[in-house]
Amino acid sequence: MTSNKKIMIMNHPLIQHKLTLLRNKNTSYKEFRELISEVTMLMCYESMRDLALEKVEIETPLETSMFNTLGENRLIFVPILRAGLGMIEGVMKMLPTARIGHLGFYRDHKTLQPVEYYSKLPSQTENEEIVVLDPMLATGGTAIDGINMVKRRNPRSVKFMCILASPQGIEALSKAHPDVSIYCGACDRDLNEHGYILPGLGDAGDRIFGTD
Ligand code: URA
Repeated sequence: MTSNKKIMIMNHPLIQHKLTLLRNKNTSYKEFRELISEVTMLMCYESMRDLALEKVEIETPLETSMFNTLGENRLIFVPILRAGLGMIEGVMKMLPTARIGHLGFYRDHKTLQPVEYYSKLPSQTENEEIVVLDPMLATGGTAIDGINMVKRRNPRSVKFMCILASPQGIEALSKAHPDVSIYCGACDRDLNEHGYILPGLGDAGDRIFGTD
């Protein structure tokens, strides 16, 4: 894993293998969805390393002792619509009591700027940890705006999780939000003139929902 304080790129063999399958244009929608979930679950392992634990008394078949259990972690996952929805199954399998907000942006294909069209977060966000989810950190514009929006709700902390990033996206996001930890499966070479990651995996939303 490459770790630059707040930027974690998971160079883990399991993740790289699944990313290779995701990149293959012949991977079916069903397989693609499943793989996005699996990679997200694996990324939870690293991104949730700082979760609080508390002790509980448990009777094993042999004796009674104190053991660690997840404490009252006040987590809100916020997928950026629509591709971020593909990551929900993976995070909910790992942390089923977390709450979920939604943020909707689309990218203006001419200006490449994000335009907000929907937002719904739990009413209580102060003291919570918000994890913004978007599989593709391309120009960084959507992630920056999404994080600007969740920060207005005064959460305790904000993290960002993506499956693939571009160097430009990481640079822009870490500059705009130096306090936000960025977790990504891999960082690719470049962006093309349409803001797609190269070599990338194409349009994540279309491949998750079968809309291409
Ligand atoms: N969004 C995608 O779905 N793919 C990219 O490569 C960039 C942004």
